[in-house]
Amino acid sequence: MNEAQRMTYETLLIDDAGPVARVTINRADKLNALNATVIDELTAAFTALTAKGTARVVVLAGAGDKAFVAGADIAAMAAMSPAEAEHFARRGHRLGELMAAAPYPIVAEVQGFALGGGTEIALCCDLIVASERAKFGQPEVGLGVIPGFGGTVRLARRVGVGKARELIFAGHVIDAAEALAMGLVDRVVPHAELGERVKALAEQIAKNAPVAVAHAKRVLHGVENVPLGTAKELEIQAFALCFATEDQKTAMASFVRNPRELRTFVGK
Ligand code: COA
Repeated sequence: MNEAQRMTYETLLIDDAGPVARVTINRADKLNALNATVIDELTAAFTALTAKGTARVVVLAGAGDKAFVAGADIAAMAAMSPAEAEHFARRGHRLGELMAAAPYPIVAEVQGFALGGGTEIALCCDLIVASERAKFGQPEVGLGVIPGFGGTVRLARRVGVGKARELIFAGHVIDAAEALAMGLVDRVVPHAELGERVKALAEQIAKNAPVAVAHAKRVLHGVENVPLGTAKELEIQAFALCFATEDQKTAMASFVRNPRELRTFVGK
C-alpha cells in the first residue's frame, strides 16, 4: 500500500500507483458536491501526492457519469454564518494554492456538470479536458452568493473580465463547445473517449523530464500572477536550473548521438 492510500478518505478514491495518479471525488449521490470534508481531503491528498513524489501528472475526476462537481455543497452552506463562510472560502482558496504549487500538472477530467465550485476547482487545474456533454457555469448569484473558491479571479484571468462578468452576473450554464470557444476548457472530446484521451495526454506529459515540467508549471503560473519583468526573470532562472539535472544532460547527449533515440527520464 502507498502513502496517499494509507490515509483513509471518506470522499475520495486515490490511485497513486504509477506516474499518472488519479484522484476521484466520490460523492456521486450528491453529484460530487464540495463540502468541508471533500475540500480537506483534497488538500490532504495533494499534500500526500507531493510528499510521495512519484506522480508526474495527476488527473482529477468526479465519480459517476453525471457530474464532475455540481458545486459547493448547498446543504452544508445553507445555515453558515459569515464567519463560517469565510473559513469555508479560505479552505477552498488554500486548496487552490496547493494545487498551483504542486510540482506536477493536474488535469481536470470533466464528464458532466462542473457548476459553481465545480468550475472553480477545474480552474485550479493546469489543464481542463471536457466531454462534449460537460456543462460549466457560475450560478452562485441565483443562490444569493458569489463564487468563493477563487472563481471570480481565475475565471476572469482565463476567459477575460467581460465573459466572466456575463457568466457570473447572469449565472448562465454553458455547454462544452461554448466553454471551448471562450477558452474556459482546453479540449473537448467525445464522451465515450474522455477517459482514454485524458490518459493519453497525461501519459504524454509523464514521459517528459519531470523537473523541467515542474519548472514550466511554476513559470507559467508566474506569468499569470507577477509583473512581466518578474515572469521573464522566473523563466530565465528556471531554464538555468534545468541544466542542473541529470535528465537534461542525458536527453541532450542522446539527441546529439541520435535524434531519434528513445529518451526516458529519472526525475533528477
Ligand atoms: N450541493 C448539494 N447537493 C447537491 C448539489 C450541490 N451543489 N448539486 C446536486 N446535489 C444533490 C441534490 O440535492 C440531489 O440529492 P438528493 O438525491 O439527496 O436529493 C442529488 O445531488 C442529485 O441532484 P439532482 O438535482 O436531483 O440532479 P438533477 O440531474 O436533477 O440536476 C443539477 C442536476 C446539477 C442541474 C442540479 O443538481 C443543480 O442545479 N445543482 C446545483 C448546482 C449549483 O447551483 N451549484 C452551485 C452551488 S454554489
